[in-house]
Amino acid sequence: MRYVELEKRDGIAVIRINRPEKLNALAPEVLEDLEKAIDDVNADTGIRAVVITGTGKAFVAGADIKYIGTLDEEGGYRMAKVGQRVFGKIEDSPKVFIAAVNGYALGGGCELALACDFIVASENAVFGQPEVDLGIMPGWGATQRMTRRLGQGWAKYLILTGERISAHKAYEIGLVQKVVNHDNLMDEALNLAQTVASKGPLAVALAKEAINRAFQLGDFGFEYEAKLFARTVGSEDKDEGVKAFFEKRKPEFKGR
Ligand code: CAA
Repeated sequence: MRYVELEKRDGIAVIRINRPEKLNALAPEVLEDLEKAIDDVNADTGIRAVVITGTGKAFVAGADIKYIGTLDEEGGYRMAKVGQRVFGKIEDSPKVFIAAVNGYALGGGCELALACDFIVASENAVFGQPEVDLGIMPGWGATQRMTRRLGQGWAKYLILTGERISAHKAYEIGLVQKVVNHDNLMDEALNLAQTVASKGPLAVALAKEAINRAFQLGDFGFEYEAKLFARTVGSEDKDEGVKAFFEKRKPEFKGR
């Protein structure tokens, strides 16, 4: 892959978007490489958690503005659907995805981070949805995922004003889960990845699925939770987790 590096070690994958000369802007060929990397880790049963980051001073400075300039309405719809499909593979994955935001996360970059389960940010990071400055609106999920994460007030504020906010402000409003020293960003993100990778795989995957559906299911969400809870209670991982607790040792989960 030309624009994306993929490394795997000890059950953790790191996907690094690598087009620093254009601040990792997601041109179609970059998005295509990102999709290949996501497909690879999703198909790899040895991988439990994935960290996504960027090379240089940006995480991702958005969709490629030059490319957007070439599109008509029909092309815009197709572009939205491709990005939504790629980011949907992160959200729907049974694995945990962590965005390690090293710099600018603007437009499609902020939307990529929003598709991840947690966001860890360098204190240098800048977040925003500046599409309105270009006379367009977000098309890769921000109107939906930001509203679900932050509520309508902050989603409208950020999307309608295009204001860029610091990592600390992003933490304050709940967009970011951790702000860390820039030099420690990858260590912190990898630590977090290792933490979730050490838990019961089935439990983590099913809990993520239940949380993802919380806004769609209404009261049925409780029934859905009970069904998924029951699957974890009937699992070999539960037998091992309970046994390990009483034997005062670390559990060895199998993911079934
Ligand atoms: N698309 C294409 N090229 C981009 C880009 C983008 N999103 N962001 C930066 N670049 C390019 C610049 O054109 C520049 O290229 P050249 O060297 O060839 O001139 C190079 O990357 C470096 O960028 P700057 O010189 O602008 O760097 P800076 O440090 O002065 O500014 C910045 C950094 C504030 C992030 C600025 O680059 C910027 O505002 N970028 C655009 C951010 C944006 O509007 N993103 C939203 C895109 S639309 C979208 O994402 C739609 C969607 O929902 C899917």
